[in-house]
Amino acid sequence: MSSVNYDTRIPNNVDLAGDRRLQRALERWQPAFIHWWRDMGPADSLNHEVYLRTAVSVDRDGWANFGYTRMPEYRWGVFLAEPVPQRKIGFGDHKGEPVWTQVPGDYRAALRRLIVIQGDTEPASVEQQRFLGQSCPSNYDLRNLFQVNVEEGRHLWAMVYLLHAYFGRDGREEAQALLERRSGDADRPRILGAFNERTPDWLAFYMFTFFTDRDGKFQLYSLAESAFDPLSRTARFMITEEAHHMFVGITGLSRVVQRTCQVMSGMRTDAVREHGVIDLDTFQKYVNFHFSVTLDLFGAEVSTNAANSYTAGIKGRFHEDDIADDHRLTDAAYTVDQWIDGAVKTVEVPALNALNYRLRSDFINDVKAGIDRINRVIASHGIAFEVKLPHVGFNRRIGSFAGVHFSPDGEPLSDEQWQAKHGEFLPTQEDRAFVRSLMPAAITEPGKFANWIAPPPRGINQQPTDFEYVRLD
Ligand SMILES: [Fe+2]
Ligand SMILES: [Fe+2]
Repeated sequence: MSSVNYDTRIPNNVDLAGDRRLQRALERWQPAFIHWWRDMGPADSLNHEVYLRTAVSVDRDGWANFGYTRMPEYRWGVFLAEPVPQRKIGFGDHKGEPVWTQVPGDYRAALRRLIVIQGDTEPASVEQQRFLGQSCPSNYDLRNLFQVNVEEGRHLWAMVYLLHAYFGRDGREEAQALLERRSGDADRPRILGAFNERTPDWLAFYMFTFFTDRDGKFQLYSLAESAFDPLSRTARFMITEEAHHMFVGITGLSRVVQRTCQVMSGMRTDAVREHGVIDLDTFQKYVNFHFSVTLDLFGAEVSTNAANSYTAGIKGRFHEDDIADDHRLTDAAYTVDQWIDGAVKTVEVPALNALNYRLRSDFINDVKAGIDRINRVIASHGIAFEVKLPHVGFNRRIGSFAGVHFSPDGEPLSDEQWQAKHGEFLPTQEDRAFVRSLMPAAITEPGKFANWIAPPPRGINQQPTDFEYVRLD
């Protein structure tokens, strides 16, 4: 069961051959997917040979196999983590009952919606990143971008499999629509705001993989708890892929900061832009932007929708089993920060309604560990600068703080103050133009790195850093 069948058009470990109808439906969707990839996938990349990993089994240790592939020939497929024998529902009204192998009628609409929203983010991020190959800082980084891109494509496959296998005709229609929406398109935008933002430069890409892919990790962990077992198993395998995306984020940001600090200590000056590296103030503004738009992805702090999903057993908490409570939460309370009567107040609300807030807090703790790592790089150069996360109310569009202006320190600002000051907090046009000016063209010669980023300490899959990860056509 765990090994993947590659003798078929769609690699899978779900015995697709045993369900001809489903197989045929997915085989009809496949050319539409390839068409979308050619149209909206990484620009000018169709004939590059890329050193990519592919799943060969879903076992914890041996799933990745490395080799050169042209991306349109990547073996996208359907991989689910092994079932947990006798798995029981871990939370909500159905706690203790056997998990569902089919979709219960009562929860069909809610589950479909959840899967569609998750599925929509996957091609969206590929679309957002499609021009980055034209300005990559190295052959190594280009390969990592493409690895992330093909795996987001794989995640789309994962959600489309669930839609086709469990949601009948409306599932098939939703699967089709996932290939029709476009990131940033005025008429047919992607569903979530952060996935309609552009990822215009490589600093934004590392920020996106650091912050926004990490939101993905936490969403996937909460879906891995789902009572709907096929969704749980799908999410569990996706989590193993997601780890690489966050690796790209944290190592990319650390290398940017390392290079800046090298120049700062060598030059004994803060004015490093003229030396062709990203100044730490600009780095901080990017952090402010990407952190705040990613917080919006968790939804409103207080949400009856989140309560309903939990009670129904559809979406659990991060590491649900490790939490010492009754896993029903009908009588429990939780404290959340809210904007009430013109001030930030900490209030107690029913724990069921605070689940978005709680997941977001788990995410923030994880982010903090990464920011600490970046700050250690700065400190190791003896430079007095600390990257800080902005206040949770800063630059928010969703939830209690939407419509209120804050400084990154959490000081409420009037509209006029915000207008006067937001350029100190968020990247300006000029900041973004400067960052882009550092990346005028792709650097693809193996072993060469752009001036604004330090080389990685080691390569991928124990290859050297000057390995030819992408053979350009
Ligand atoms: Fe993904
Ligand atoms: Fe990802």
